[in-house]
Amino acid sequence: MKMKPPLALLSPILFLYLFFFFIIYDNGSISAAAAAIPPGSTLYASNPNQTWSSPNNTFSLHFISINSAYFAAVTYSGGIPVWTAGTAAADSSASLHFLPDGNLRLLNGSSGNLVWQSNTAGRGVSSAALDDSGNFVLKNATVSIWSTFDYPTDTLLPSQNLTNDKVLRSGLYSFSILRSGNLTLKWNNSIVYWNLGLNSSTVMNMTSPILGLQSIGILSLLDSNLSSPAIVAYSSDYAEGSDILRFLKLDSDGNLRIYSSARGSGTQTERWAAVSDQCQVFGYCGDLGICSFNDSSPVCGCPSQNFDPIDPKDSRKGCKRKVEIENCPRSATMLEIDHAMFLTYPPELSSEVFFVGISACRLNCLVSGSCIASTSLSDGTGLCYLKNPNFVSGYQSAALPSISYVKVCGPIIPNPSVSSLNGKNRVGSRWKDWVIAVVIIGTILGLVMFEGGLWWWCCRNGTNFGGLSAQYALLEYASGAPVQFSYKELQRATKEIVSGRRNFEVSEETSREKFSIWAYQEFEKGNVKGIVDKRLTDYEMHMEQVVRAIQVSFWCIQEQPSHRPMMGKVVQMLEGVTEIEKPPVPKAMPEGSVGGTSMNVSRSVSSIFPFAATASASAQSLSLPRQTSNVEGASSSLSN
Ligand SMILES: *[C@@H]1O[C@H](CO)[C@@H](O)[C@H](O)[C@H]1NC(C)=O
Ligand SMILES: *[C@@H]1O[C@H](CO)[C@@H](O)[C@H](O)[C@H]1NC(C)=O
Ligand SMILES: *[C@@H]1O[C@H](CO)[C@@H](O)[C@H](O)[C@H]1NC(C)=O
Ligand SMILES: *[C@@H]1O[C@H](CO)[C@@H](O)[C@H](O)[C@H]1NC(C)=O
Ligand SMILES: *[C@@H]1O[C@H](CO)[C@@H](O)[C@H](O)[C@H]1NC(C)=O
Ligand SMILES: *[C@@H]1O[C@H](CO)[C@@H](O)[C@H](O)[C@H]1NC(C)=O
Ligand SMILES: *[C@@H]1O[C@H](CO)[C@@H](O)[C@H](O)[C@H]1NC(C)=O
Ligand SMILES: *[C@@H]1O[C@H](CO)[C@@H](O)[C@H](O)[C@H]1NC(C)=O
Repeated sequence: MKMKPPLALLSPILFLYLFFFFIIYDNGSISAAAAAIPPGSTLYASNPNQTWSSPNNTFSLHFISINSAYFAAVTYSGGIPVWTAGTAAADSSASLHFLPDGNLRLLNGSSGNLVWQSNTAGRGVSSAALDDSGNFVLKNATVSIWSTFDYPTDTLLPSQNLTNDKVLRSGLYSFSILRSGNLTLKWNNSIVYWNLGLNSSTVMNMTSPILGLQSIGILSLLDSNLSSPAIVAYSSDYAEGSDILRFLKLDSDGNLRIYSSARGSGTQTERWAAVSDQCQVFGYCGDLGICSFNDSSPVCGCPSQNFDPIDPKDSRKGCKRKVEIENCPRSATMLEIDHAMFLTYPPELSSEVFFVGISACRLNCLVSGSCIASTSLSDGTGLCYLKNPNFVSGYQSAALPSISYVKVCGPIIPNPSVSSLNGKNRVGSRWKDWVIAVVIIGTILGLVMFEGGLWWWCCRNGTNFGGLSAQYALLEYASGAPVQFSYKELQRATKEIVSGRRNFEVSEETSREKFSIWAYQEFEKGNVKGIVDKRLTDYEMHMEQVVRAIQVSFWCIQEQPSHRPMMGKVVQMLEGVTEIEKPPVPKAMPEGSVGGTSMNVSRSVSSIFPFAATASASAQSLSLPRQTSNVEGASSSLSN
């Protein structure tokens, strides 16, 4: 009772006090963020809790350890490294010094050796700060003198620019932009195993192409000679979710990928890869190593028992002959490897290509002192590649129409009954699998298209559905390959959807839905045979392939266009090269929704807007992702 009056009096004072406290505190943290790290600060590898963080802790600079090697790294919330100070590993007593002279130095603890430095001594650097975009900047009173965005390692973050004088590196691999605007992946600064150009109309001299990744997952190229950004790639989850970081990374396996990672999760998911077939990455299996696929992942092996792995613990290091060729000049012979090729990319291409028959391709190499391997394409071109001793990178797959030879000291000791390739049988069964896959997908897609066609037939002359032309909607619906709509079309379509045709074709929609839901339920129950056309059960089915095909078809009929896989991906999934995630349940329609096709369009419209806002698409037309010839080029690099 007595306490009441004083408390009542106190509370406004307390309120005011808290009010000012927060204002002051806020200001304090803002100015602290601006001048976060004063010269003379040091981080120690021995204390992993010590970090230099961005204002809202999205990124931090600290020591991380990978297999007991230590690196000073900028990491994203959850611990994903996006930049490292140099590539050499330091030890557990290493330290990172921001020196009073403005230099940033990483020293190896026990020896005190210099591991890496920013070389910014004497350039007026007076402070350092890590911002919320992940850029660690050394600056003088006014401008940035040095930043991690300007000296990237293997990762490109949103709002970071990659100009044509910069390179992402990972081991022997590098990624850069040519002045022409082409994007290239190189091995050992020479072999170009991936070269993606914009379409020919834009192949003009770019002045200073800049590659950037938008936070929603669109990788695009900017240049003053381009009227709008040229889109290079889409992250498969583009514009989905919130608080997700997407980044471009050159991985140590030589592939360039877009990943996404939810804040704090510490995990990253692959959303796009430049080289769709990992075995086409030059040198992936090292010198004389042969890359092939076991079920779904690339594996490295040696051509035969005449070879030893260089490092038995790491098959990617390559192979060496048990007996060098110099030591057996008389008994050298050619080991034959079926369905295999030795990768041949520019610039070595022109000097090594000949038009000769298969046996000549073998013999020419055998008698030539500078040739150690050859590949003859048995695709009718008569092309023969002769490989010199520098470095050869092999690829074996039942799908390759080629035969390769490697020079070895006899006698030849083949690999023990390789899990792979029993020639014709295997090819035959693959062929049958494909027929079954195509029939299943064809049936499901056919059903969808038939209904679409029915709808088109019913209402092309119907009342004023003047929105999107039916072919567009149908095409979009059936293929999952989005099309372009003009702004007017979209406007009309959305109005139309709002205003009318609500009860149109609900019954037909329901039948499609019923079928897919029924099929999904059967599939969940494991009753795969129940879904498959009865006529097919007469064939001897490869169940694994059938299951794959069914899963793929569930992905293909996803309502949300962005959920449907691209054609290249579909092929990979059917081939078993890519793992297939569990497809989402075919969704039930919300109440009172419109018929299938128009429903789809309205979904597309809503998914366009976030994209349009950031992609600076012109006011006239908005484009959705599709598999352009640009992107397609990525997977065709093996052909010759
Ligand atoms: C780092 O933090 C964790 C938990 O916050 C603590 O258990 C650990 O002792 C700390 N390590 C050091 C070296 O301070
Ligand atoms: C740092 O020292 C460790 C041994 O303490 C050594 O293994 C490592 O190679 C050194 N790193 C550099 C870059 O000198
Ligand atoms: C900061 O560096 C820039 C570029 O080197 C220079 O032009 C500017 O005068 C410097 N400012 C100060 C305050 O030193
Ligand atoms: C990236 O480039 C764009 C366009 O030239 C520019 O507006 C932006 O400031 C640059 N960003 C950085 C971090 O340099
Ligand atoms: C990479 O290229 C350099 C010459 O540029 C060469 O000396 C080196 O042996 C090459 N590395 C491999 C693994 O072939
Ligand atoms: C750019 O890439 C295309 C293939 O996409 C290729 O045909 C062209 O030769 C490349 N240009 C350069 C300069 O590398
Ligand atoms: C080529 O690229 C330009 C700009 O990115 C685009 O407007 C044009 O439609 C493209 N042409 C083809 C044939 O894809
Ligand atoms: C395929 O290779 C990977 C990596 O070597 C291995 O982990 C996996 O078990 C292999 N899968 C099969 C089916 O052999």
